[in-house]
Amino acid sequence: MPIGFSRCFNFEDDVRIGLNFQDLMVRLGAIDSPPKTPTILGFECAGEIEAVGEEVEGFKVGDRVVALPEFRAWSELVAVPTKYVYHIPDEMTFQDAAAIVMNYLVAYILIFDLVSLREGKSILLHSVGGGVGQAIVQLARTVPNVTIFGVCSKSKHEALEATGLIDHLIDRTDYVNEVRKITTEGVDIVMDCLCGEECNRGYGLLKPMGKYILYGSSNVVTGETKSFFSVARSWWQVDKVSPIKLFDENKSLGGFNLRHLLYQQDGSEYVRSTVDKIFGLWKDGKVRPVVDSAWALEDVAEAMQKMHDRKNIGKLVLDPSMEPKPKPATPAKSKSKKQASEDKGGKKDKEDDKKSAENGGGDEKKEEGGDAADEAKTNGGEGGEAAHVNGDGGAAEQKEEPAAAAAATNGDATESEKKESS
Ligand SMILES: NC(=O)c1ccc[n+]([C@@H]2O[C@H](COP(=O)([O-])OP(=O)(O)OC[C@H]3O[C@@H](n4cnc5c(N)ncnc54)[C@H](OP(=O)(O)O)[C@@H]3O)[C@@H](O)[C@H]2O)c1
Repeated sequence: MPIGFSRCFNFEDDVRIGLNFQDLMVRLGAIDSPPKTPTILGFECAGEIEAVGEEVEGFKVGDRVVALPEFRAWSELVAVPTKYVYHIPDEMTFQDAAAIVMNYLVAYILIFDLVSLREGKSILLHSVGGGVGQAIVQLARTVPNVTIFGVCSKSKHEALEATGLIDHLIDRTDYVNEVRKITTEGVDIVMDCLCGEECNRGYGLLKPMGKYILYGSSNVVTGETKSFFSVARSWWQVDKVSPIKLFDENKSLGGFNLRHLLYQQDGSEYVRSTVDKIFGLWKDGKVRPVVDSAWALEDVAEAMQKMHDRKNIGKLVLDPSMEPKPKPATPAKSKSKKQASEDKGGKKDKEDDKKSAENGGGDEKKEEGGDAADEAKTNGGEGGEAAHVNGDGGAAEQKEEPAAAAAATNGDATESEKKESS
């Protein structure tokens, strides 16, 4: 298989990387067949072609493209087979390209190919404020008279209401009752990216002739680390529906997984033709990606945390040309050791005072010896501080190297995970 090209990824280049919920799931090891670690994350990047491999046709150095590599999008150079690379329209920025391709591909395929959304239908969407959620809303709005029930965290309602695109904004905590209050009949389409119990609830909300589509499993993300329990529960909670039940109830079930379609089921030609349609809609001004925020590569852990904390509205984008946010100084470890040593010294002094009082007099020599020992411990601690400062210097040096920075960030995430799990 000919390798497509390499994309140079340095600070001078105008390149962008899309951050997806999938990256969070990979980081937590919560996807099927996760890559072996250490690995470089990232499924989506836009930039200029730096070099073209042998036998490559249709692409040349300098072409503006967006690509969907299977991992490794967050690195200096990405070699991507041409079947996952797409030319972008001249007027499209790299930021728009990185914010569009994955989210709108999923949204387009769900809305137009899987459920064939038609005039007058109602649709319920989970995580409506997220990257894919916002893309589905925009595409659904290209069909007349569609009623959208958008489920998401309450904190996003005000901002989403202002867009005027969602008919009913519903808090995710009690959405079934809320939907039933609005329509006792239920809805025509349920788009579920949560899985677990939501599958049964979604199926229960369908009208006769209704269609339920599963396209994600966000519910397996519970804490900061992978929970085998939540993965198992998410699978176990789903009612196993037989085709006979579907036949009796006039309902349909479907599913979609872009990763599997692209990398395991050779759906690249179909995906390419869909990307063309999406870029056509973009050129006609029918879709515009909603970008929540852009982040320096070094701040990827913070960007991911924002997603994890359910605070993003639209897409998170990584911009390697951005300066990282200033970080608060890390409290020096040795200082706390010193403090501990002082505290210990203080406690010891009190004990010694007590003993001394009990013995009816001072034991000067013993006290001095205690101080000397404490002093020695404190110096040892300062040695630790010097090492710590050197450690920071190392991190600063790494900022010059994007790949190293990404690796360092991944390391940070692992550290925080360790803290959480302990
Ligand atoms: N099938 C495919 O090929 C495919 C491709 C891309 C994405 N997806 C799926 O589509 C969904 C959206 O992806 P996206 O990249 O656009 O991300 P996103 O929606 O921007 O993801 C962040 C949002 O997910 C919601 N969420 C739901 N459960 C969560 C949990 N357990 N922890 C944290 N946040 C949670 C939160 O919004 P609320 O609290 O407001 O709900 C959060 O703000 C994901 O399930 C993803 O796996 C599927």
